[in-house]
Amino acid sequence: MIKNTSPPVVAIDGPSGSGKGTVSRRVADALGWHLLDSGALYRVLAWAGDAAGLSSDQPQKLQSLAGSLQVEFSRTAAGDERILLDGRDITQPLRAEECGNRASELAAIPQVREGLKILQRSFRRAPGLVADGRDMGTVIFPDAGLKIFLTASAGERVKRRYNQLKQKGLDATLPGLFRDIAARDERDQSRAVSPLKPAPEAVVLDTTGTGIEQVVEKVLVLARRRFGSTPGGS
Ligand code: DC
Repeated sequence: MIKNTSPPVVAIDGPSGSGKGTVSRRVADALGWHLLDSGALYRVLAWAGDAAGLSSDQPQKLQSLAGSLQVEFSRTAAGDERILLDGRDITQPLRAEECGNRASELAAIPQVREGLKILQRSFRRAPGLVADGRDMGTVIFPDAGLKIFLTASAGERVKRRYNQLKQKGLDATLPGLFRDIAARDERDQSRAVSPLKPAPEAVVLDTTGTGIEQVVEKVLVLARRRFGSTPGGS
């Protein structure tokens, strides 16, 4: 029997506003594992592509740009996340809805998805990785030891996104966000390559009306059951 010696992975997939960003970060912190925010990489590519004047009909150029991105994730002393591209802090523009929508458009291009594969997989390091995205369990880490798919009603996801953006001091209206999220869901679920869908073996958790803490606890119970007392964990 061939033993899988790669560091373990918890894949957490789901649509925007399902709570997967917060849940993934808390689970990674509790286990003492690395975190991959794959949506941020799509956003970085959207930002870098626009800065380079590339359009969606230049898939080869977008693919080589994806393959050359020098991205660094860090946290400030206060615990706020920072995303650096070539050493430049681009956290703020990445958070805007515009950038998320552009990322969703680019994410439907097969060459873009291919171009970001190596970068995403390079985050798999000991003692383990919590990978947050849309296709972590289906395409990027099909051998992940635990696959979670988070969902929530559209109304709840819109409310959460609204509160997040307001907290960050960004502009948003509920009807505008509802339209954006509905359009993004439709695009993410219906694209031909790696559409957003649970892996057959994923544990599907509906987070509507559930506190984040409870969801984190559920995932941690599943992770500890699957991986035992995790190396690096507290
Ligand atoms: O999670 P997010 O909102 O930051 O992601 C931005 C967009 O990137 C999202 O609408 C779809 C796309 N995406 C993807 O297609 N696959 C991933 N693994 C992560 C994000």
